[in-house]
This record gives sequence, C-alpha cells and structure tokens, in this order.
Amino acid sequence: MTNTATTPETEAALHTMLSDVVEGLSQNRKTLPSKYFYDERGSKLFDDICELDEYYVTRTETALIQQQVGDIAAAVGSNALLVEYGSGSSLKTRLLLRNLIAPAGYVPIDISGDYLSQVGHSLQAEFPHIEIMPVVADFTKSFEVPSPTSKESRRVIYFPGSTIGNFRREDAMALLVGMAENAGAYGGVLIGVDLDKDRDVLRAAYNDSQGVTAEFNLNVLKRINDELGGTFDLSKFKHEAVFNDGRSCIEMHLISTERQTANVCKYSFEFEENESVLTEYSHKYTIHAFGEMANEAGLNVKNVWTDANNMFAVMYLERA
Ligand code: AVJ
Repeated sequence: MTNTATTPETEAALHTMLSDVVEGLSQNRKTLPSKYFYDERGSKLFDDICELDEYYVTRTETALIQQQVGDIAAAVGSNALLVEYGSGSSLKTRLLLRNLIAPAGYVPIDISGDYLSQVGHSLQAEFPHIEIMPVVADFTKSFEVPSPTSKESRRVIYFPGSTIGNFRREDAMALLVGMAENAGAYGGVLIGVDLDKDRDVLRAAYNDSQGVTAEFNLNVLKRINDELGGTFDLSKFKHEAVFNDGRSCIEMHLISTERQTANVCKYSFEFEENESVLTEYSHKYTIHAFGEMANEAGLNVKNVWTDANNMFAVMYLERA
C-alpha cells in the first residue's frame, strides 16, 4: 500500500470545521454539515444504525450487491481502477473487490486520515494482489486520482450507501459532474440510490426506537465541544427526523428544548425554544428522477439493479 494517509486533525482541518460550523449556525435557519457526523464515534454509531431493524438501507444495498455482484463486475469490466468516495470499510466494498475481474487498483477517498489508513491496511492484508492507494481528501472538492502500477482500462467511481442523498440536489449534481470528470474517458460511476417509498417506513428508519440515530445526530454537537471547544449542552437538544414531501427527503434536525446560548471559540449562538438546527438531508429518488440528474451531469444510465421490494437501486452510469 502506498502510504499517503495522514492524520486529519490538522490545524487546517479544524479551521475549515470552525468556519463551516460558524457559517451554518449564523444563518437564519441554522444548519450544520452532515459530513461532521463521521468522526470515530460517529462512524461507530452509524455502524450501529445499520444493525437496526428499522434501518433497511445498508442491509438492502448489501444484499442487492451480493446477489448481483457477477453482473456488476461484468458491467465494470476487467482491469478497472475502482475509486471509492468514502473509505471502503464495508462488506459491500469487499464483495466487489473479491469479484471484480483483475482490478487495476482500489482508491478509497476519505477526509478522516486515521480511519482511512486503518481501513487501507486491513484491506491490503485481505487483498494482497490489489494495489490499494488511499487518498486523504474531501471528495466534494477537486483531488488527484493516483495512477496504479498496472495499466487501467477505465476508472470507475464507486459511491455506495446512498450518500448522494445527503447532498442538496444542486450539490448532488455538482458531485456527479465531478465524478464524470474524475472517471475520465470510458469511465463509469457505480452508485447506490435509496428509492422513494412508504413514508412510515422512511420515518421509522430515521427515528429508531433505540435512539441510536438520536445519538448519531447529537454527536455533531459533541464533536464541536471536543474539537472546537464548544459549550453545547447535549441534554438540551433533541433529535427529530421528518419527511419533507416537497423535496422528497428526510430532514434530520436537532431541536433546542429551551432558550439557550452556546459558544464556539469566540462565537456565541442564541437558540430559541424549539428552534431547529438542520443537520442532514437524505433524499429519496425515483429511478427516473435520478437518471435525469445523471444525464444532466453527462452520464448515461447503463444498468439498474433493484431489490425485490424496490427499496434501493444500484446504478451503473457511463460517461456520455
Ligand atoms: C447512509 C449516509 C446515506 O442518509 O441514510 C443514517 C446516513 N443518517 N441515519 C442516510 C444516516 C441517519 C445515511 N447515509
């Protein structure tokens, strides 16, 4: 493994986080970027979410990939360089790596350097014949895709988990455009998309009975306290997830249970009773709507795989 992974908690990373937090909390309708859920604790809590009965997303996608991995590998083709947006700790990634035809390499991209290097090392041990080249980067910004030692037939961007749903439509569009660019000529995008479905199923998935999603949501405030010296009282915010019909997305909020003030460094933020901080969108697409967005980004839909209940889609897109 090429060791390009470094620790993320650099001065610069903290500075970016502070300015993102201050920007989000200074708005009329307060927001915090969902990417800050995923420190070590947040990633662990997300793994716990995936085990919940109500949270169908991960298990449905994993089963789908398990069932279709032969067809998926055929679509991706031989000697492809697989570039994953997010660190590939999941079973889904290992399923793919096990079944791809002579992959030229695997490039996991993640903002968390520590986590990435851990994942990189364990994957390299599990797949000694695949060149693993982790890149510490924010995949919403531009970054260099490293070239593998062996010749690549094409680059395939892999973005599972329906993480694309966490971006507002215009940002999802921009991300798809960036993927098409990074994929380059003859390149492709293999992407997981959570589909529009029964509202009760959706609401239950994001308001689980064990409160794990609540912990996960509150973790962003804990991180601000721990890493930026924030003074949030976590017992005075409660988790709430609602479905926004107009936008066809789940919205996660942290609701201030009373009027209060919280400080972050030299900044001070006032919260009214019941005021919300929007922490995450999770858009639910139809196959048709997602295909249209891909087309607009310069990608053609080549394959669509769905589960028997049409809960989730894995799509293979090719550069137009
Ligand atoms: C897997 C990152 C897309 O939106 O369903 C899970 C994150 N948020 N529960 C999703 C999440 C709340 C998740 N992603």
